[in-house]
Amino acid sequence: MIDILVNEHKNIKVILSSVEHISREIANGGEVDVELYRRIIDFIRNYADKYHHRKEEKYLFNEMAKDSNAEGPVQGMLLEHDMGRKYIKHLELALNDYEKGNKDAKVRIIAYGIAYKDLLADHIFKEDNVIYRFALRVIPEDVAKGLEKEFVNIENDEDNKAIREKYVSLVNELKDRFNISE
Ligand SMILES: [Fe+2]
Ligand SMILES: [Fe+2]
Repeated sequence: MIDILVNEHKNIKVILSSVEHISREIANGGEVDVELYRRIIDFIRNYADKYHHRKEEKYLFNEMAKDSNAEGPVQGMLLEHDMGRKYIKHLELALNDYEKGNKDAKVRIIAYGIAYKDLLADHIFKEDNVIYRFALRVIPEDVAKGLEKEFVNIENDEDNKAIREKYVSLVNELKDRFNISE
C-alpha cells in the first residue's frame, strides 16, 4: 500500500524538478512554453491530485485520523493539499494573462511554480519519512489489509491504467527534456 504511494511520489518529483527547470529558464529571460506548462498543470490536477491525493484523503488519512494522535498531522497534510490547489489555480491564471500578452505575468508564473514545487517537495518528504510510517503504526492490521486490497483494485482498474500510462509518458518526456535522473 505504502509502496504504491511512494512510487507515485517519484513521478510527482520529476514534475516538480521540471517546474524548477522551467522557472529557471523563464527567470533567465526565456519565453514561457504555455502548452507544456498546461500539460504539467493537467498532470498536477489529474495525477498528483485526483489520482494520488485522493488515495491519501479518501483512504489512508481517513483511516489514520480515527486515531486521535494522528488527527493533527492528518489535518496538516490536508491543509497542504489545499494550499497546493490554490497555488496551481494562481499559476493557471498567470498563464492565461501571459497568453493574452501580459509579459509581467512571468513574475507570477515563476512565483507560484516555485511556491508549489517547494510546498510539495517538503510535503512528500514528510509523507515518505514520517507520515506513512505513522499511518502503519496507528491503522489496525485488518483495516490496513483492506486498504491494500482497495489500492490494488485501483491499480488494476482499466481507466486508471490509461491515466497512469498517459501521465507516466509525460514524466518520461520531461526526464529526457530536462535531463532528470531521479
Ligand atoms: Fe499528500
Ligand atoms: Fe503524497
